[in-house]
Amino acid sequence: MMEKKEMLYEGKAKRVYATEDPALVIVDYTDNATALNGLKKGLIAGKGAINNRMSNHMMRLLEKKGVPTHYVEELSERETVVKKVSIVPLEVIIRNIAAGSFSKRYGVEEGRKLALSTIEFSYKNDDLGDPLINDYHALALELCTAEELETIKKYAFAVNEMMQEYLLKLGIILVDFKLEFGRLPDGTIVLADEISPDTCRFWDSKTMEKLDKDRFRRDMGGAEDAYQEVMKRLMGD
Ligand code: TMP
Repeated sequence: MMEKKEMLYEGKAKRVYATEDPALVIVDYTDNATALNGLKKGLIAGKGAINNRMSNHMMRLLEKKGVPTHYVEELSERETVVKKVSIVPLEVIIRNIAAGSFSKRYGVEEGRKLALSTIEFSYKNDDLGDPLINDYHALALELCTAEELETIKKYAFAVNEMMQEYLLKLGIILVDFKLEFGRLPDGTIVLADEISPDTCRFWDSKTMEKLDKDRFRRDMGGAEDAYQEVMKRLMGD
């Protein structure tokens, strides 16, 4: 069994460890929750295990449907072996329904169905608060190549199609979500980071109840139950 060696990176909700194989790392999910670029801190009990299992479940599904991912093997409730990648410093956000910063920025009520699914990018930079960035700026700053950007867009919309369809059958509307991509040593672009209620907005399709991290971000209460509900629908437990 693969074992953790030194810690390579500590993020807001995950830790990444080296392994004996330089091409592989172990991700360890914690229950730590942050919002407002790290200003708001808290815990969502059980979140680490849920995000780990849900993310792996989605990545296995996406991989089967032709989107390459970093996923290798689930080690335990909270730990997963993934391919070591160099992260493209862009947060890739797809939206189907207006919510969050989109609603605020454009003065659109939350819940309005968008006439088409949109994509936007944020520059991953905590000091700057992950500012919105456009294609030209990303290329001008050499955050990725034009070819990589096209691949990322293609995969992001493909993920949207597959996840929307999959989740709707479970009574979940995929409002919006954030993806991150990485490069393998040979330059291949793969889906990385996680897909979870931390990084997606999920609404119950009947009641429109929020089943995601907005319950924590907005101090609504019930975050633990919401994460567990998503998990139950996904895995039947
Ligand atoms: P936003 O409406 O706040 O821009 O968020 C859009 C989506 O991206 C939402 O599903 C939450 C997710 N997201 C993250 O995963 N990480 C982040 O740092 C931010 C700002 C949003």
